[in-house]
Amino acid sequence: MSRKNIVAGNWKMNKTLQEGVALAKDLKSALAGKTLNCEVIIGTPFIHLASVAAEIAGSKIALSAQNSANKESGAYTGEVSPAQVKSTGADFVILGHSERRAYYGETFDILKEKVLLALKNDLKPIFCIGELKEEREAGKQNEVVKAQLEGSVFNLSAEDFGKIVLAYEPVWAIGTGLTATSDQAQEIHAYIRSLVAAKYGAQVADDTTILYGGSCNAKNAKELFGKADVDGGLIGGASLKAEDFVGVIEGFN
Ligand code: PGA
Repeated sequence: MSRKNIVAGNWKMNKTLQEGVALAKDLKSALAGKTLNCEVIIGTPFIHLASVAAEIAGSKIALSAQNSANKESGAYTGEVSPAQVKSTGADFVILGHSERRAYYGETFDILKEKVLLALKNDLKPIFCIGELKEEREAGKQNEVVKAQLEGSVFNLSAEDFGKIVLAYEPVWAIGTGLTATSDQAQEIHAYIRSLVAAKYGAQVADDTTILYGGSCNAKNAKELFGKADVDGGLIGGASLKAEDFVGVIEGFN
C-alpha cells in the first residue's frame, strides 16, 4: 500500500499573524530532530500563509489553506482564489469542512467547483465529509458520506481523485470532546474506502489517505491511527499548541 499517513492541523479562525508565525516556529523546532512516521501539514488562515511558508521553508511541515474560491479571479470581494493560495507557498487546501457547509452555505455544487479549481491550480484538496448527530442517531451516516462524495468529488477522473485526501469528520465530534470510538471510525473509514473502490477500483482506494477528525488529541490518536483504514487525523483544537500537536503526531510512533 502506498497511501500516506498524514497529521494535518486546522487552526480555524485562531491566532493573530504574530501568534501564528510563533506557533509555526515552535512546531518546526519541536519536529526538527524527530523521525516522523507521517507527513505533517498545518492549515492556517489566509493571512498567515505567506509568512508561515517562509517560517517553515526547509522543514518537514507542509502548508494548507482552509478554503479557496470557486472562481478564478475578478470582482469577488473578500474571496481568495486557488492561484492566490498557491502563490503563497501552500500545497493543500481544506475544502468541504462542516463549518463551511453549515455557516457559509457551501453546497455540493459549490464544493465540486472549488475542488476542480483547486486541482487545476495544483493545490491538493483535503476534502471533508461527515454526518450530523441526528443523522448518526438515525443510522444514516453511510448514506450521508456517500452523497457527499457523489455530490462533489466522484465526478473527478481517477488521476485527479488520486491527488485528494479525504477527511471523515463526524460533526457531533468536532470541538465537542466527543471522539468517535476507534471502532466507529474504522467501520465508516472502511465503508468510505469501499465506495472509492467501487468508483475508481481497488488500487486507487488502497492509495487514498482517509483522515479522521473530531476531538482527536494526543491521548486518543494512537488508538485511532492504529486502525487499518484510519490514515491520520485532521486536528482542530489540539493543533493550536505545538506540544499538543506533536503529541498527536507521535500517535504514529
Ligand atoms: P477538533 O476539530 O479537533 O477541534 O474537534 C477538528 C476539525 O474541525 O477539523
